[in-house]
Amino acid sequence: MILALDQGTSSSRALLFDKNGQLLGLEQQEFQQYYPQEAWVEHDAEEIWRSQLQVAQRLIEKMQISPQAIQAIGITNQRETTILWDKKTGRPVHRAIVWQDRRTASYCEELKQAGHADYLRQHTGLLADAYFSATKIRWILEHIPQAKALAEKEQLCFGTVDSWLLWKLTNGKVHKTDPSNASRTLLYNLHTGEWDPKLLDIFGIPAHILPKISASSGLFGHTDPALFGAEIPITGIAGDQQAALFGQGCWQAGSVKNTYGTGCFMLMNTGNQPQNSNSGLLTTVAWEIDGQRTYALEGAVFVAGAAIQWLRDSLRILDSAKDSSYFAQQVEDTNGVYFVPAFAGLGAPYWDMYARGAILGLSRSSTKAHIVRAALESLAYQSKDLLLAMQQDAQLPLVQLKVDGGASANDFLMQFQSDILNAELLRPSLQETTAAGAAYLAGLGAKVWTKSDIQGFLAKQAQSFQPNMPATDREKRYARWLKAVSRTRNWAEE
Ligand code: G3P
Repeated sequence: MILALDQGTSSSRALLFDKNGQLLGLEQQEFQQYYPQEAWVEHDAEEIWRSQLQVAQRLIEKMQISPQAIQAIGITNQRETTILWDKKTGRPVHRAIVWQDRRTASYCEELKQAGHADYLRQHTGLLADAYFSATKIRWILEHIPQAKALAEKEQLCFGTVDSWLLWKLTNGKVHKTDPSNASRTLLYNLHTGEWDPKLLDIFGIPAHILPKISASSGLFGHTDPALFGAEIPITGIAGDQQAALFGQGCWQAGSVKNTYGTGCFMLMNTGNQPQNSNSGLLTTVAWEIDGQRTYALEGAVFVAGAAIQWLRDSLRILDSAKDSSYFAQQVEDTNGVYFVPAFAGLGAPYWDMYARGAILGLSRSSTKAHIVRAALESLAYQSKDLLLAMQQDAQLPLVQLKVDGGASANDFLMQFQSDILNAELLRPSLQETTAAGAAYLAGLGAKVWTKSDIQGFLAKQAQSFQPNMPATDREKRYARWLKAVSRTRNWAEE
C-alpha cells in the first residue's frame, strides 16, 4: 500500500492506495485559518503538522493495517505557504504565512520599481508578487527578531509545507524539498535547477536556511519509528497542482488539466524545456524524475466556484451550490445573459486588477435560471480564455482537457466546457487526482510501480465528454463572452 499525505489550504488529508492504485480509505481534518489583519492569512504550522499526523494515524487505525504494509509515503501540499523554524527546538518562529496573504504587496511594487521584474521572470518563471514564498520569508526575517537571531547563528530553517512535514516526519533528520515546490518560491532558478544566488541577494535571504532540492520521485528519508511504529520511506513529493497534473496522467507535452475549485488552476505540460509566457502565465516545474525535469505553464481563474457561492450566500438565489446545475438546465440557454465574475479583477490573459464583476444582457424575460446558467458558463468561458493563452504561449495544440475538483462533478458544466472548447474532456472516476499523483510519485520512487503500471490504472478510470455544439453557435457565444469581458475592463480605476 501507498500512503498519500495531502496537506491543503483548508484541511489535512491522508489517503491509502492499494497495489492496483485503488483508493482504500481517506481521513480528513480541517484546521483553523487566521486573518490577523486585512489581506493577511496565516496557519499555525504546529496545527498543520498535528492534523496531518492525526489523519494518517487515524487512517492506519481505521483500516486496521500494519504500518509495515505501507511501502511508501507521498506528500503533496498547498504551495508557496512559508514556514520558518528553529533547527534545534523544531519550533516555528512565526505562524505560516499562507499563499493568499498579501502583506508584502507594497514590497513587490518596490521590487518592480527597482527593475527586478525581468530578472525574476526570466530566471524563476514567476512574477514579482506577494503570492510566492520569497517576500514572505523576507517579511519574517525583518519583523521577527528571533528569526534574525537564529539566522545569524545558522540555526534557522525555511520550508514550504512539504519540507516542514518531511522534517517533522523524519524527526528533524531531513531538510529537503522537491523542484515543483522550490519553483514556487521565487528563489529557484528554472534553468539551473538550483537556488539562485542573485535572487537570495535581492531578497536578503541566507542560503543556509533553505532546504536541499531532491527529485520529486525518489528517497527523501524515513519516518521516525515513534510516529507509526515503522520506518516508512518517503519517496514522493510535489506541490498539489503539479501532483494533480501527474495524477491525471498529463505526461505528454500539450496535455492539460483544469481543477475546478473556488478558483480554477489550469496547468499544461510543456515538456523538458521551460516555456516563457507572453500572456502572464507562470512557468513552473511540474516534476523531476530520473534526472529529467518536466515543466508546465500555469494559469488561474480567480473566481470560479466562488461565483456560485456568491449566488448562494450574497444574492441568496440558490440554497446550495449543487442546485445550480438543476436551474441551469431549466432553460435552453442564457437568453443573452453573460456573467463576468471579475470580483477580484481579471487574471491571465487580461491581468486587469481594475476589472469588476458584471451581469450583462438582462431583459424583462431574464430569470434566475438564466443568471445561474450564465454563472456556470462563466467557468467554462474563463477556462477557455486561459487555455487559448496557453496554447499560444506553448505553441502546442490541445490534446485533451482532463478535469477534476468539486465542480467537475457537474455534468452540465463539463458538457458545456467541451462544447465551448470544441475538445474532448476526460473526467477520472477517481476524483482524488492530487493525492493519486503524490501516491504515484511515491510508488515510482519506491519502485513499487513502473510508469506503465500507472498508465494502466489511469486508462480504466475516465469518463469522456465529447463536443456537440455547431461551430457557428460556439463562435457566436464566445465572441459575446469576449464582448462582455471588454465591458468590465478598468471599471474600478479612479
Ligand atoms: O498555489 C496554491 C495552491 O497550491 C493551493 O491549493 O488546493 O490547497 O487551495 P489548495
